[in-house]
Amino acid sequence: MDFKALANKYNTPLYIYDLDYMSVQYEKLKSAFKAHSSIMAYAVKANSNLSVIKHFADLGSGADCVSIGEVRRAILAGVPPYKILFSGVGKKDDEIKEAIETDILYINVESEAELNRVEAIAKELNKRCRISIRVNPNIDPKTHPYISTGLHENKFGVEIATAKRMYIKSKNSDNLDPVGIHFHIGSQLTELKPIYEASEIVADMLRSLQAIDIELKFFDIGGGLGVQYDDETTITPYDYAQAILSTLKGLELTIICEPGRFLTANAGYFLTKVLYEKKNGEKRFVIVDGAMNDLLRPSLYNAYHKIEAVSKNDGEKSKADVVGPVCESGDFIAKDCFLPSLEHNDLVVVHSAGAYGFGMGSNYNTRARSAEVALKNGDDRLIRKRESFDDLIALEKEFLD
Ligand code: LLP
Repeated sequence: MDFKALANKYNTPLYIYDLDYMSVQYEKLKSAFKAHSSIMAYAVKANSNLSVIKHFADLGSGADCVSIGEVRRAILAGVPPYKILFSGVGKKDDEIKEAIETDILYINVESEAELNRVEAIAKELNKRCRISIRVNPNIDPKTHPYISTGLHENKFGVEIATAKRMYIKSKNSDNLDPVGIHFHIGSQLTELKPIYEASEIVADMLRSLQAIDIELKFFDIGGGLGVQYDDETTITPYDYAQAILSTLKGLELTIICEPGRFLTANAGYFLTKVLYEKKNGEKRFVIVDGAMNDLLRPSLYNAYHKIEAVSKNDGEKSKADVVGPVCESGDFIAKDCFLPSLEHNDLVVVHSAGAYGFGMGSNYNTRARSAEVALKNGDDRLIRKRESFDDLIALEKEFLD
């Protein structure tokens, strides 16, 4: 990849996404489920750029959304409403209303109180709303605690017994149509066992619902498939699919999968420019123009991202922290990585930045967010302009007296 040319053309900091790589990942996962009817519903939160969503829509993907804003993005990008899901623990009334009016595939309901709201809103609209219930199987996914979601101590979903009550209520309601069952135990999963165990618990529950005449159509397995950031061993899509399908013996439901990171993480690069080097005692710092407001994962989760100096890989390397200009000690992109001596305007590329990168960015320190560029068939194309100072103050300016 010609990072130098991209930096010259679009400036830095810059997000770069290889759409061809995303297609390869999509096909890998989709084909792993080919023995079964399935819908891949791309988890928009991983990378919500409209052109990225459109790329997946063109491949046949649906969209898993967690706000009405994401639903609107998905629709704008060409995802048909019948492939859109709406998940999340705290949906507001107007979001539920719009989701029902948009006639999306279903709403993933996460509490009894929410089910009551969905029913009441559907009634007001004189409609039936398709729902799925998110079950919390109380399984430890063995991932970072901030991205673990399948334990009772996490805020997500409901216990089996509660879910059962909710299905019975929905079945007896004139305004609810229970069509699916959902679980998602966490993100960046690298062990198969917890996924298998969760799937087995949920499949057993399905059987017990069948026994009381509640027939569902969709088995929504969430997302979570991990990727390699460093040298971790990951689960293959084939093993993942086999583990889940093996729990569904005799059940003919459509699988809904909500992959985010697997499709996008390793398709993305964050390109940043060296401003200065300095030493505080023995400690070496490389100060770059990208920061925690652009890529929050290292600061928030202590996440590892591979770092490389562009076209400077033969010089002697020494240990350094790569840090941004934000006024926080927690503002770092990498710690204790080995880099050659760098000069003003040298480029540093951060790998695996396609998922939860730009989307978790902010304007902290009144820093404009980066531009985003897509690569496809050897061409590069701007898919989000770099923000300007005017963009940053647009919603405040009129109140200045
Ligand atoms: N479905 C549901 C219900 C989810 O909560 C998530 C992610 C996904 C699907 C997609 O998961 P994936 O396939 O991407 O693992 N910001 C964190 C990750 C948060 C994940 C939140 N939920 C990070 O940077 O690692």
